[in-house]
Amino acid sequence: MPYYRCPAERYGFDIEGTFARDTIITRWPVILKDTAQTVREAVEAHSDPTAQEQGRHIIEKIETLTKEIAQDGEVRNIVEDGGSNIALYNAQIKEFRERGQASWFNLPWLWAECYLYRHLRTFFAVQSEWKTFDPYFTSKSSSFRSSSEAVIKLAQATLNLSTTPETLQQFFHTNLQLSLWGNASDLSLLAGGVTDEELRKLQSRGEEEKKFILRNDEEKVWDWVKSGMGGKRRADFVLDNGEFELFTDMIFADFLLTQTPFFDEIVFHPKSIPWFCSDVLPFDFRWIIATLHTPEKFFPASVLDPSSTAALVTLAERWQAHVDAGRFKLAVPLESNLGDAGPDFWTNGNEYQRMEHLDPALVQGLREKSGLVIFKGDLNYRKLTADAMWKSTTPFEKVLGPLNGRFPILSLRTNKAEVIVGLDDGVEERMDKEDPKWRYNGKWAVVSFAPLV
Ligand code: F6P
Ligand code: MG
Repeated sequence: MPYYRCPAERYGFDIEGTFARDTIITRWPVILKDTAQTVREAVEAHSDPTAQEQGRHIIEKIETLTKEIAQDGEVRNIVEDGGSNIALYNAQIKEFRERGQASWFNLPWLWAECYLYRHLRTFFAVQSEWKTFDPYFTSKSSSFRSSSEAVIKLAQATLNLSTTPETLQQFFHTNLQLSLWGNASDLSLLAGGVTDEELRKLQSRGEEEKKFILRNDEEKVWDWVKSGMGGKRRADFVLDNGEFELFTDMIFADFLLTQTPFFDEIVFHPKSIPWFCSDVLPFDFRWIIATLHTPEKFFPASVLDPSSTAALVTLAERWQAHVDAGRFKLAVPLESNLGDAGPDFWTNGNEYQRMEHLDPALVQGLREKSGLVIFKGDLNYRKLTADAMWKSTTPFEKVLGPLNGRFPILSLRTNKAEVIVGLDDGVEERMDKEDPKWRYNGKWAVVSFAPLV
């Protein structure tokens, strides 16, 4: 099978004023500084001199990397650290070198950002005392705490939900949109407490919310689901962020299992290494159920009363029962820790058009077993679209190239990067006038579906 070569030019760091350029110049240095600071605090909290020494070494590595990026240095090979995708990353670095494009500012944005997190992982993986340390866990869990009120309201709404044949389709859309907006970087709608009015608006799928979805294939997805999905009864979530977004994904997954007659198994695909700060690791999946199960240990006392506590515990028990019965599954062993989940396709730096070439068994498995593969979030969308400068009206199916039709693909993405496809004529022009940052400010979204062929 030929290696897919994207016909459109990729987003890179070279154009002034782009979000990509802002990412490498402004956003990465902040992310790296915060990562080093988290390690510094963990070093201070450690009493073991070996761990302290190793931690200081990790901080130095992160600081050196920050300088190398700022000076447009060449990327280094990934060293053997027991993790995934080393040969693949290094082969691609060799190709970039041969083309004279191996320095940071000359790389494609998508590949470079994936490489950044894979490279960072090595700093921890090669240190005996830091192998299982997730530098982003604290920020993930504190963002979940700041969504406490929304979490409680959604838990209560989920437990009280009862659908009828007449309302099933409406609630399918409501839950799908909840999972979609769970991906918004600007969680102002939900995080930090949501008013009844906001929640009602979100759940009633009013015209107001629909307007923010610039391409909306929800009806097509529903038609496919209710057609019986070619005899399959499984949905897969290729997860994105943990904590609040994962919570909304699990609510959607629970809805599919318990309220519709079409599903009896949900498979969640996490990452195996800390990824783009907030992505789900196997630990995060276990953690969220355990946390909901003992709310008084985590949520602020101010939001807990007997009824909210009972709702969280009941939901956790229900989800644990799904796990015990194999209705909720992780695609990797449930007890996996950092570094031991085995091969991980999702953390290589390639566009998904290369999925079949790089991991034929993954494609075959999804094709044979899954009725709906839901790709969450912006990075998954960038990989589905090769993060390239397509005309915004190019059909989503066309952009998928060799992946199109191999399994049913649903992408739920709030816009946090420039790439966008599948829009109707005139939408791009209208949006450029209405909100100049619409491509990446997280306020707008696309729901894209490509059926099984
Ligand atoms: O904010 C931009 C960004 O860091 C992009 O680089 C990346 O595609 C995205 O965020 C990650 O977002 P998500 O968690 O939705 O995949
Ligand atoms: Mg993410």
